[in-house]
Amino acid sequence: MERKSIVIYKSSTGFTKKYAEMIAEELKCGLADYRTVTARMLAGCEVIIFGSRAHAGRIDGYRKIKELLPESSRHKLILFVTGATPNDAEDMIKEFWRQNLTAEELAGIPHFYMQGGLCYEKMSLPDRWMMKAFAFFMRKKKDKNEYEKKFEQAIARSYDISDQKYIAPLVAYVKESR
Ligand SMILES: Cc1cc2nc3c(=O)[nH]c(=O)nc-3n(C[C@H](O)[C@H](O)[C@H](O)COP(=O)(O)O)c2cc1C
Repeated sequence: MERKSIVIYKSSTGFTKKYAEMIAEELKCGLADYRTVTARMLAGCEVIIFGSRAHAGRIDGYRKIKELLPESSRHKLILFVTGATPNDAEDMIKEFWRQNLTAEELAGIPHFYMQGGLCYEKMSLPDRWMMKAFAFFMRKKKDKNEYEKKFEQAIARSYDISDQKYIAPLVAYVKESR
């Protein structure tokens, strides 16, 4: 029998929401905005997929989701993060996960990265300033490595490369483990 699943998203400019909708559609399961989620809602689920954005090197909202999930339910969690880091920047992405998850979480929580894009037009003012400052810093940085050069291009302006194909590893994982 299929396990009851839910996709929860935290999204500011829409990329994570778009991926969350694609995943929920593909898995034929529930979908909820992070702001509406309660511990009670999660208690009835056997698979909890939480998606958020990378924000200044951190997983936005990860702490709240952990607070809603008792230690005994953490094994139900699957994470996905969207960002502007290029999908093929594997070392950067690995480092991102290492910075955000404990060794235990790295081993126990399936985690997936999906490049989405960047939307300066929909960003909050503080986010836009932060991103512009970061883009300026990247432009000025000397001796950029291959991925820093790609990242510099990736954050220079708004773009959207979100694609159904990037959800495939997560969807396959959930379907296999059901
Ligand atoms: C202030 C700020 C910081 C960001 N930091 C990162 C980052 O550290 N790594 C990354 O890959 N993308 C970063 N991004 C890009 C977002 O993660 C990316 O646009 C994401 O897909 C947005 O998701 P959302 O539309 O669901 O909010 C940042 C964006 C902003 C506005």
